[in-house]
Amino acid sequence: MHLAHLRLRDFRNYARLDVDFGPGFHLVLGDNAQGKTNVLEAIYLLATLRSFRGVGGAQMVRHGARGYFVGGRLVASTEHQLKMFWSAGEKKLSLDDQPVKRLTDYYGRMRCVVFCTEDLQLVKGTGRIRRRFIDLLLAQTPGNYLTTLQRYLSALQSRNALLKKPDPDPAVIGPFTQELITAGNQLMQGRHELVPRLSALARLAYRRISNDAEELRITYAPSVKGDFSVELAQSAARERMMRVTMVGPHRDELHLLLNDKPAAQYASEGQKRSLAIALKMAQAEYLTGLTGTPPILLIDDVMGELDARRRAGLMPLLERAEHARGQVFMTCTQENWPRELGRRLRRWQVHQAVLTAGPETQPA
Ligand SMILES: Nc1ncnc2c1ncn2[C@@H]1O[C@H](COP(=O)(O)OP(=O)(O)O)[C@@H](O)[C@H]1O
Ligand SMILES: [Mg+2]
Repeated sequence: MHLAHLRLRDFRNYARLDVDFGPGFHLVLGDNAQGKTNVLEAIYLLATLRSFRGVGGAQMVRHGARGYFVGGRLVASTEHQLKMFWSAGEKKLSLDDQPVKRLTDYYGRMRCVVFCTEDLQLVKGTGRIRRRFIDLLLAQTPGNYLTTLQRYLSALQSRNALLKKPDPDPAVIGPFTQELITAGNQLMQGRHELVPRLSALARLAYRRISNDAEELRITYAPSVKGDFSVELAQSAARERMMRVTMVGPHRDELHLLLNDKPAAQYASEGQKRSLAIALKMAQAEYLTGLTGTPPILLIDDVMGELDARRRAGLMPLLERAEHARGQVFMTCTQENWPRELGRRLRRWQVHQAVLTAGPETQPA
């Protein structure tokens, strides 16, 4: 799978950009604050409808403009045109020039995995960030996880709104509780199935990039230990007091353990860093295994900051993506680009939101 064309209008510092990309390895070079990460952000946005910087639409609109447009031509087993427009008053999303009615029709077609400095939050941040990580992965998996998640969140929202009322009527809450349980059980099942597989992949990845002998293990810690409906009923008193739904997959956790100790508390900075990268490598491996084609890899700045061992550990993933006619985009400043990348690569130079193709090189 590769992104053959990217079109930006009023996105971040790009007034306009039209660029063709072949499959293979793309090295995006430039000084700081020129627009390297913005290109990766746009590609990721097209795939996931989210910024990996965790910001909303307004911040991505070029200063002074009304809205942004991001479009792409994706070449996979078939070709697809992806287009999105965002402004405060209007949002449009189309696939092959048909408006997208259900997100499930859009999601999973273009698959991207990003490696960026924000990844450290997977280890250090709140459970919400880890839930979002597995939700995104499950949403990109064939099946109806995303629809179920939307049903769950909507039932949860209605339920919480009713619980906020002075004297909540159980008869009114009932149907939302039912929906919450049905959808919630499906979400938990999806997470139960995913996490052990992800854990195995992440353990291998961690071994490859880490100097330590620690064993990485990821476990799923659902908020519901047994029967959702029973535990929900048992939480009724607490629920009335707190005026919010106290148990359910919205409170699930993913435990990241190094030698069975929680990484967030006990791991060194370097280990946390390796762990975050291992999670992303596992994500890429999982998606590849699922569909037979590697996702587009977006590597923002991190390569230049990694030591030789971690870089070497990441290399097989990049090579496989390339061999399968996948695509890798990697940003670096001139100073920190890892010169041992002895591979055929297309260099791009970014200067003040202008992307210029360099020669295709075969560095020594
Ligand atoms: N909404 C926006 N409108 C215009 N310029 C923006 C916007 N958001 C960020 N920028 C500009 O984009 C540049 C940073 O781009 P980025 O891709 O992060 O740089 P880098 O090349 O260092 O990765 C900065 O000059 C910043 O001012
Ligand atoms: Mg950057």
